[in-house]
Amino acid sequence: MNVGVLASGEGSNLQAILDRVHGRAGVAVVAAGSDKPGARALERAEAAGIPVRAFPVAEHADRRARDLAMGDWLAAAGVELVVLAGYMQLVDPAFLARFPQRVVNVHPALLPAFPGIGSVEQAVAYGVKVFGVTVHFVDEGVDSGPIIAQRALDLPDATDADAVRAALRPIEHDLLCDVVRLVARGAVTFDPANPRHVAVQR
Ligand code: GRF
Repeated sequence: MNVGVLASGEGSNLQAILDRVHGRAGVAVVAAGSDKPGARALERAEAAGIPVRAFPVAEHADRRARDLAMGDWLAAAGVELVVLAGYMQLVDPAFLARFPQRVVNVHPALLPAFPGIGSVEQAVAYGVKVFGVTVHFVDEGVDSGPIIAQRALDLPDATDADAVRAALRPIEHDLLCDVVRLVARGAVTFDPANPRHVAVQR
C-alpha cells in the first residue's frame, strides 16, 4: 500500500512511520507533503529518500486550489492512503472525494472530547484525569470522522500541557503506526449498517 503523509511541523509521527512501517508489512511511503515550506517533517522525509513537496496556500488561488494540486501530486505518486500526521489544516471536500475513506488523522485527545487545535491545553484547563490519543478517518468536519483506534493515559495530576503532550507523543506514534499496518492488510472496514462503526480485525 502506497502511503502519502501530510505534516505541518516537527514530523515525529512521520518519522515513526518511516522508521517502523515504511518498507515493511507491504507499506511504502511514496510522498510527503506540507503546507509549510520549511517544515522539519519535510527534511525528515527527504533524509529518508521520500519525494517531498510543499504546498503553501500563497502559491495557489485559494485553499481549494491548493488542496486540488496536492491531491493531484499524491495521486500521481500512486498514493492509496493519506496520513495526516500533525497536518494543521482542514482538507477540502474535493480532496477527500479523491481518496474516499482513505484519509486518516492522529489527534491528541480522546475524541469527541477536545477536537480542533489546542486540545491538550483545553483538556488540562478542564481538569480531566484521563488523556489520550485518537486515530480516525477524516471527514468534512473538524476531527469528527469515524474512530479507528483510541488509547487512554491516566494523568490524574496533570497541570502542564507540555508534559502531557510529551507523554502522549509515544502513544501517538504507536497508535498511528498500528493503524497504517492494519489498513494495509485490509483489517479496517466499515460496518455497512452503521458507517460510524469501524471494525478492526486484530
Ligand atoms: C501531534 O500531537 C498530532 O497529534 C497533532 O500535531 C502533533 C504533530 O506532531 N495533530 P509531529 O509533527 O508528528 O511531531
